[in-house]
Amino acid sequence: SKRIAVLTSGGDAPGMNAAIRAVTLSALSHQHQVFGFLSGYNGLINEHFTELNAASVTDIIHRGGTILKSARCPQMHHTDGLLQAANSLRKCHIDALVVIGGDGSFKGAQALAEHWSGQIIGIPGTIDNDINGSDETIGFHTAIDTALGCIDKIRDTAQAFERTFVVEVMGRDCGIIAMEAGLASGAEQIICKELIDDEPQFLQKLYEQVKANINNDAGHSYVLVMAEHSLSISAEQLAAQLTEHSGVESRSAILGYVQRGGAPVAGDRILATQLGCSAIEHLNAGADGVMVGVVNNQLKTLAFEHTSDTQQRNRDFVARLKRFRR
Ligand code: F6P
Repeated sequence: SKRIAVLTSGGDAPGMNAAIRAVTLSALSHQHQVFGFLSGYNGLINEHFTELNAASVTDIIHRGGTILKSARCPQMHHTDGLLQAANSLRKCHIDALVVIGGDGSFKGAQALAEHWSGQIIGIPGTIDNDINGSDETIGFHTAIDTALGCIDKIRDTAQAFERTFVVEVMGRDCGIIAMEAGLASGAEQIICKELIDDEPQFLQKLYEQVKANINNDAGHSYVLVMAEHSLSISAEQLAAQLTEHSGVESRSAILGYVQRGGAPVAGDRILATQLGCSAIEHLNAGADGVMVGVVNNQLKTLAFEHTSDTQQRNRDFVARLKRFRR
């Protein structure tokens, strides 16, 4: 029997609670003890934790956010912070740590491994779906549905007013939320940097397309779904440019944090449950320094150092995108 610590770190994502539940119940069924550290790596540094039992994870599978709270922890970028975190783990006699989070959280885990000899295993939890080694991350399915619901509503106004709308979605540096929400909403244009080689050229073509749209009879609403950080100008500036260049009244809407919240959809709950159980099975088998993920419907593990391989991730993503490119 092991003493297992679990924490959620980085941007919260719907389904993190489902993952905590799966980790806890699975660990308990293998006679392990489970300790939830609070507010990401801060909980390790401050020795802020609580023992989790079956009752602690009842009634949470359907809730957004994370009962363990989350944070980004700058101290994990410094040796002092890492040493403190490692000391707490030793002091609490922890044998294994489960980190539910994204890229930054796994970098923290890798750095921590240099100072602590226990097992560390990662579970990909982020709406951004930007982790190499898992086709999907926990929270992504819900974020897409949330974004989609919002874009559908915005399209009503776009249609009624014959306006052009630029809708900015999250994703950090990855355009996959924009792509999937854009596809599902029938967006006239999806903007993400993975597909833009030359921004001025791209924008010029875009202005022409929007202008041409007023001259056809197909209906004048035009919705652009734009990934955050995809252009050197903001969504608001792009809308202003579109108004100026195309003569069509254009507006912008930034969806923001609504995409991180809400009840997780079935896909995220199922993914979280599979990955949570898989993490414990891998810990039982001695795994260390890896993330569990789903690749082509198979549960897999990948060493932390490869999870941020953005080049590989981008190759996969662009291949997926190009299948839909007009
Ligand atoms: O990683 C999740 C995410 O919501 C990104 O999509 C976004 O760029 C970032 O977090 C926002 O971070 P913060 O919560 O620190 O503002």
